[in-house]
Amino acid sequence: MIDKRPIGVFDSGIGGLTVLDILMEKFPNENFIYLADTYNCPYGEKTKEEVEKITIDNSLFLNNLGIKALVIACNTATANSSSLINFVDVPIIGVIEPTASCAKSITKNRNIMVLATDLTISCNSYQKYLNDYFVTAVKASEFVKIVEEEKSEEESFNIINNKLKDFQDKNIDTIILGCTHFPLLSKHIQKIFPNVSLISSGIATALALEGKITKNKEKNKQSLVVFTTGNKEELLNKIKWFKRKIDYMMEVTI
Ligand code: DGL
Repeated sequence: MIDKRPIGVFDSGIGGLTVLDILMEKFPNENFIYLADTYNCPYGEKTKEEVEKITIDNSLFLNNLGIKALVIACNTATANSSSLINFVDVPIIGVIEPTASCAKSITKNRNIMVLATDLTISCNSYQKYLNDYFVTAVKASEFVKIVEEEKSEEESFNIINNKLKDFQDKNIDTIILGCTHFPLLSKHIQKIFPNVSLISSGIATALALEGKITKNKEKNKQSLVVFTTGNKEELLNKIKWFKRKIDYMMEVTI
């Protein structure tokens, strides 16, 4: 029998769609709900307490819709989600541990850069999984704004280059895109580090989800409902690159 309950996914904005896109590809018979919490974006510049509260509120919102699993498609929220288990009664999948494991399996010289929001870095969230590695942790909350504010290609590259150019000779062979907005900036980052492996969260998170739910085996017409705490039209304008069909979209206050 098909389990129609959707998988709930959330982020502070459009970054989590980079994870959702892969989940929808790998789980073709599952339904999805995505919450873009644009009202509270950016999380990475908030306090730990603020993000903990937002994470609980968003998770409860999705949990109350009858989801079968919760994917926190946001590193900053994942880093501040330890109490969530007390509020949500379905499997919870964060992005940090799977992404860190993926980077560990890819690096050859054990020299890894973690690029994430200020709060994700100051919570030590990746560093704690990378104890035996040489880690360069870079706070890059301003990169979130590049994406959300749709800065021009030139301005985007300049901001990223200014931040990262001094690390070019540090022998880094792997960069963790430790914010789900950053895969949307991959081409700029790759231009600065042409020989480095960029690790995003999508595939690793899909594998982690696979281990936590029973997938529908029978054919089910996949559906996607999107909620936003911001403006619907603005969101749609920003996600033209996201090619999945959205069956229903609604503005909500959480
Ligand atoms: N996409 C998010 C992350 O992975 C949050 C970005 C933000 O709101 O600061 O951390």
